[in-house]
Amino acid sequence: MLSLALGVAALVSPALALTPIETFYPPTLNDTAYISNASIGTYGGVYTAQTRTSVYNASYGVYDYCTMPHPRTQEYQMPAAIASGNVTGKLKFLEYVQRHQRRTPYNIFPYGETAPYECDNVLAYLYAAPQSGVAPVPVYGKTYTDPTNPFVASYIPGTCQYPQLTVGGVLDGVQHGKDLWALYGEKLGLIPKTPDNSIWLRSSESPLTQQSAGGVLRGIWANYTGSLPLMQQTTSVDTVNAGFSCNAKSALLSAIESTDLWNEHLTVTASLVQTLGDITGANTSSWTNTFDHFSDNFQARLCNGYALPCSETDPTSCVTMAQAEEVFRAGDWEWNYWWRNNANVTEYIQMVEGPFIGEILAHFEAVLAGNSTLKYSHDFVHDGDVGPILGALGITQLRWPAMGSNVAFEIWETNDATNKFYARALLSGQPVETIHGVLDWVPLTKLISILKPFVPSDIVALCNN
Ligand SMILES: *[C@@H]1O[C@H](CO)[C@@H](O)[C@H](O)[C@H]1NC(C)=O
Ligand SMILES: *[C@@H]1O[C@H](CO)[C@@H](O)[C@H](O)[C@H]1NC(C)=O
Ligand SMILES: *[C@@H]1O[C@H](CO)[C@@H](O)[C@H](O)[C@H]1NC(C)=O
Ligand SMILES: *[C@@H]1O[C@H](CO)[C@@H](O)[C@H](O)[C@H]1NC(C)=O
Ligand SMILES: *[C@@H]1O[C@H](CO)[C@@H](O)[C@H](O)[C@H]1NC(C)=O
Ligand SMILES: *[C@@H]1O[C@H](CO)[C@@H](O)[C@H](O)[C@H]1NC(C)=O
Ligand SMILES: *[C@@H]1O[C@H](CO)[C@@H](O)[C@H](O)[C@H]1NC(C)=O
Ligand SMILES: *[C@@H]1O[C@H](CO)[C@@H](O)[C@H](O)[C@H]1NC(C)=O
Repeated sequence: MLSLALGVAALVSPALALTPIETFYPPTLNDTAYISNASIGTYGGVYTAQTRTSVYNASYGVYDYCTMPHPRTQEYQMPAAIASGNVTGKLKFLEYVQRHQRRTPYNIFPYGETAPYECDNVLAYLYAAPQSGVAPVPVYGKTYTDPTNPFVASYIPGTCQYPQLTVGGVLDGVQHGKDLWALYGEKLGLIPKTPDNSIWLRSSESPLTQQSAGGVLRGIWANYTGSLPLMQQTTSVDTVNAGFSCNAKSALLSAIESTDLWNEHLTVTASLVQTLGDITGANTSSWTNTFDHFSDNFQARLCNGYALPCSETDPTSCVTMAQAEEVFRAGDWEWNYWWRNNANVTEYIQMVEGPFIGEILAHFEAVLAGNSTLKYSHDFVHDGDVGPILGALGITQLRWPAMGSNVAFEIWETNDATNKFYARALLSGQPVETIHGVLDWVPLTKLISILKPFVPSDIVALCNN
């Protein structure tokens, strides 16, 4: 096992000699020098993928922005307490939270993009049906560029919506689901052979998460012929994807983004941002206040088989890989800052994700009370949901939760006399490293007590404060 890990490390990053798991936890991520130090590169991370395949071409387990690893039988380790025979037990409940798979970008440069995206290999189904009676035609959206539309010149030609899942994302979802079935269905016997009342499938209202769910669930239930409900809340009050409005949240975020440390990260990246603005024309505050937009634009290109952007007026002036890597390091720094490394983080997580963390805790508490009707709950959500959940767990370093990144909360029922239920939290397949220790085998009551402080007793009052 050790020699295998070392062999893998050599492939991934000869310069830094990192094992796959180390790529998730850059030790100096708290420091702005992490951003400006070009020799760090991607810290072993992978940001490229082929577009029309689910083939995972990095060493499995590595932080791969395009295709995050997930629990698989090949790498999965049984909890040591069970494997050693110290206790007997079985997996009782799984809460699986994941970001959707890879996609086109949200953010298009102000003067448009020179290279189009193609999505004619993805059929974006959306139709409504009466509960009984007429079965509608399963229509799908097929995006095209009309040559008479004068607005395309300063947007982007091609056959995609922005954002939408790309075919690489759909195929990655199917593989993700197949691997979950092999582990949590066939091997551990938790996921039922056909969907029944012991499952709960939840998504945001975003087409992205529904598109992911279609692929992942097909991977899980390869032969299932029916349709399935995805539980959703009304968009304006949804507890995921920043649905409900919270006035106090923007004031708190402004405070978080006006500290000396925050400003220092803008200072060390000022010349990069200037250069990127010169090349792409993107120099308004929405592009320059955080690295969200540049990162989104670059990773979407690289993760779907396209090149980094070039200037509209000078095709020889292009964003370099070294510049993109600095953008990705800055993005990771920001996510770690927002969800771990600022003075107001607890209240911020409460305002963004508290109610949803509360929904997850209700599942755990039902298991603890012995009256859970569910075995398996799967949430198809966004980076903005996975980040605060990992922050609440106290992850030691947080890189941007990438495409398909996932947290698997496993609850095991044991014959242990002191604690009947034990929990583990796997981040993209590996026990997550936190300030509370590695969450590999902790009493369920401890996991609940870690998360509980992030669920405000009165979210409405907190938001109106
Ligand atoms: C830059 O990163 C490299 C690799 O992690 C490290 O060895 C070096 O000390 C860093 N340099 C600075 C100035 O922080
Ligand atoms: C993965 O594939 C992409 C696109 O073909 C390539 O650029 C990249 O170097 C590959 N990565 C690895 C780790 O093999
Ligand atoms: C098994 O139990 C023994 C005695 O309590 C303990 O020392 C050991 O660490 C346990 N091993 C595992 C893998 O939990
Ligand atoms: C699906 O059906 C195929 C063909 O009958 C069969 O080989 C396979 O085992 C089935 N898969 C599952 C998960 O039931
Ligand atoms: C953020 O935290 C600091 C330090 O605890 C505190 O002084 C400040 O009032 C907090 N800001 C907001 C907007 O709550
Ligand atoms: C942004 O770019 C435009 C066009 O190049 C330029 O006119 C403007 O001065 C720039 N604004 C800033 C804040 O750099
Ligand atoms: C980074 O900051 C967080 C929160 O301030 C802290 O818990 C953690 O220990 C720091 N990590 C390192 C490696 O200094
Ligand atoms: C489950 O058990 C707990 C504790 O006994 C109880 O408070 C709760 O009402 C029960 N819930 C259901 C749905 O039976």
